[in-house]
Amino acid sequence: MTGSPPRVLVIHGPNLNLLGAREPQIYGTKTLAAIDAELRVLASDLGVEVECHQSNHEGALLDLIHGAVRRCAGIVINPGAFAHTSVAIHDGLRAVALPAVEVHLSNIHGREPLRQRMITAAACIGVISGLGSASYLLALRYLAATRSLAAPD
Ligand code: DQA
Repeated sequence: MTGSPPRVLVIHGPNLNLLGAREPQIYGTKTLAAIDAELRVLASDLGVEVECHQSNHEGALLDLIHGAVRRCAGIVINPGAFAHTSVAIHDGLRAVALPAVEVHLSNIHGREPLRQRMITAAACIGVISGLGSASYLLALRYLAATRSLAAPD
């Protein structure tokens, strides 16, 4: 233990860079930068660090997940549409075996049938869906409060 605070990796998947302008009736008007700022404020209150990344590419998301090993103590992930399609991200989350919480801004359970198939969620501890940016904040609170959230080497 080095005394450095535990670091949580926050991963935003495809199209989330467009938040604020993208279907505001579903996703709200908050930008991704605003959500990351909220996460940083909460992280500092909770005594953890957050590292926030967004990519539209499945392979880049996998590289982020792999890169978290020995550096990060947990993962908050909004896989976007990959939540419904990506066996690779599911496998990557299982492979690194870090505590991960999947989040969604919208309530996917009340949306189209194509969003009812959840592929990545099964590799996570749990899912928070439908609470807007609070989905992310509650996931961070959960991870920060979890005893297994050890500081990195
Ligand atoms: C989303 C829900 C997904 O179904 C969708 O493809 C997204 C955003 C959400 O945060 O509500 O891109 O992950």
